[in-house]
Amino acid sequence: MGVSIDLKGKKAIVFGIANDKSIAWHIAKRLNDAGCRIAAAYQERVEPLFMPLMKDLNDPIYEKCDVVSDELLDSFFAKVQKEFGKVDFLIHSIAFAKREHLQGKYIEVNRRGYQVAHEVSSYSLAELTRRTSPMMNDGGSIIAMTYLGSVRATPGYNIMGVAKAALESSVRYIASDLGERQIRVNAISAGPIATLAASGIASFADMLLNYVAKAPLKRNITADEVADCALFLCSDMSTAITGQVIYVDAGYNSMGT
Ligand SMILES: NC(=O)c1ccc[n+]([C@@H]2O[C@H](COP(=O)([O-])OP(=O)(O)OC[C@H]3O[C@@H](n4cnc5c(N)ncnc54)[C@H](O)[C@@H]3O)[C@@H](O)[C@H]2O)c1
Repeated sequence: MGVSIDLKGKKAIVFGIANDKSIAWHIAKRLNDAGCRIAAAYQERVEPLFMPLMKDLNDPIYEKCDVVSDELLDSFFAKVQKEFGKVDFLIHSIAFAKREHLQGKYIEVNRRGYQVAHEVSSYSLAELTRRTSPMMNDGGSIIAMTYLGSVRATPGYNIMGVAKAALESSVRYIASDLGERQIRVNAISAGPIATLAASGIASFADMLLNYVAKAPLKRNITADEVADCALFLCSDMSTAITGQVIYVDAGYNSMGT
């Protein structure tokens, strides 16, 4: 018996589309193809590559936003409230750290670099959830993107690993906060995928090779495989799953070497 996921009538807020390689783009497209409308927030610096993508979505709304600007957040969420009224899903697919803190030794990170990485990559999940939850239907789903560097010291990942550890912990606390409304909160821990954000990690090429050599499936993963997991987490097929970190990484995390 075939099972297809139908998200007709559902609405999602998506943060993190920079270009057609972005994991957020693949998730937005997958949800949209299943019938879900998309409200996309984009950073001004990515506008030239973001805008052409919107014509590939069915009836999207979109507005410039940056999670470090209260003014832009107020404006984006006011627009979503006005146009959508209610939403069902929140996709948090954003991260940032200064390039100089994604190489060398972790202990070289300075206070400001630590703060920036945490504000954008981790604190923002609480901020976006607090703004979304009053308009979120009970039974909704929130998804954040993370990486194995949160639980294993990964050369070059450095401050982002520490920020992802805070993000994964936030997922558990927010799942606890919103569970009585049957809102589920999970993180997808993806294997390495060549994207704009990934290009800032000095050791990224080695990470890709490492997965092919050591992951049980002997290959890298695709953004579409992450999007499939996100679709599952937005569907009624995952109604008892919350507070989890789900690995979409060809099994790499399960290996001892
Ligand atoms: N690519 C990988 O290998 C990989 C693996 C595991 C997890 N992830 C995570 O997936 C998520 C998406 O990254 P990606 O690989 O698709 O790269 P990407 O560069 O396409 O996406 C990162 C997004 O973050 C947004 N962003 C950064 N700072 C922001 C801010 N202040 N306000 C609003 N948006 C901001 C950027 O505009 C961009 O759209 C990130 O959380 C990343 O850590 C990526």
